[in-house]
Amino acid sequence: MQMKSILVTGSSGLIGSEVVTYFHSRGLRVHGIDNNQRELFFGPQGSTRWSQQRLVESLPNFCHHEVDIRDRQGVLQLVRQLRPSGIVHTAAQPSHDRAAAIPFDDFDTNAVGTMNLLEAARQACPEAPFIHLSTNKVYGDRPNTIPLKELETRWEYDDPAFANGIPESFSIDQSKHSLFGASKVAGDIMVQEYGRYFGMPTCCLRGGCLTGPNHSGVELHGFLSYLVKCNLEERNYTVFGYKGKQVRDNIHSEDVARFIHAFYETPRCGEVYNLGGGKDNSCSILEAFDLAEKFTGKKQVYTYVDENRIGDHICYYSDLTKMKSHYPGWNIAKSLRQTVQEIVESWQKRLER
Ligand SMILES: NC(=O)c1ccc[n+]([C@@H]2O[C@H](COP(=O)([O-])OP(=O)(O)OC[C@H]3O[C@@H](n4cnc5c(N)ncnc54)[C@H](O)[C@@H]3O)[C@@H](O)[C@H]2O)c1
Repeated sequence: MQMKSILVTGSSGLIGSEVVTYFHSRGLRVHGIDNNQRELFFGPQGSTRWSQQRLVESLPNFCHHEVDIRDRQGVLQLVRQLRPSGIVHTAAQPSHDRAAAIPFDDFDTNAVGTMNLLEAARQACPEAPFIHLSTNKVYGDRPNTIPLKELETRWEYDDPAFANGIPESFSIDQSKHSLFGASKVAGDIMVQEYGRYFGMPTCCLRGGCLTGPNHSGVELHGFLSYLVKCNLEERNYTVFGYKGKQVRDNIHSEDVARFIHAFYETPRCGEVYNLGGGKDNSCSILEAFDLAEKFTGKKQVYTYVDENRIGDHICYYSDLTKMKSHYPGWNIAKSLRQTVQEIVESWQKRLER
């Protein structure tokens, strides 16, 4: 009998590589699309070739395809040839701050690339679950309008309506998104539309901070991974505004892969989920310094710039209620402490090389 196959875009990246490994371990043949565009976005420090090599060397049923998702014909041809049983779309220009310098590359990748994949899926395998990695930046800076209280090391919501975090019903309209947020909104809405209009099993996962030991964190993307790297190398970490008390919820990429698998097994149509670590796995930058120091034994060197990043969230954590109610078998398995520990161990190994 032929093995079932799945297609993962951005397969060398943080989430893509985790998803590749996860589905491979469940007996599927996994096809990955990645062209190391991340190196072009962020320079050599952002390269994901090391991760691609790791996958190719360790997974016998993994096949790498050097395809650019902006190449409409190339994508269509590959999806027609493979007719996968599912598509997990993680390839993206992922940085809020980088987008303004490369607006066309950003939009062509995040919006048009997503459209290329959706249409290829509709033509070749409309019954295959299509799981799209979206972002909490689709909410723009609207979360900053929620009343906040200032605690010793973090900001916190001062409105009981958000005691569990931001739900999917939060408006994505009429706020400042950054060009990245706007290109991701375009992709997000199109993924929902292919679900609602064509009845395809699609979903958007609006990520908080997705992280883990396989992240190639850089200053402009992947704060926890980059922060740990700075700590280990005793390099300066720059904090941008909000007194370093800005809050992010962090989810281990393995927990992300487990949710993706749950959706693949029992898909729904045109769904949206806020995917993050939730309140329990949230921390401020100051609290993250503290955690990193505990595992590395090194004091974090940092400077403070009294100007926040444009449109940056002051406090954001995801309300996981909908995810848990649709998929009761899924929960966060990795605590924030465990995640930071794994990131520290991974950087220690990578920096030794
Ligand atoms: N990491 C986070 O904190 C986070 C948070 C919210 C949402 N997300 C979303 O999750 C998804 C995955 O993020 P990640 O952290 O794994 O990103 P990543 O940068 O680690 O991985 C993305 C991969 O896609 C590849 N890629 C980019 N453009 C491509 C193109 N045109 N053609 C082929 N390959 C291309 C890159 O080379 C890279 O290996 C993205 O959609 C991102 O917006 C991530």
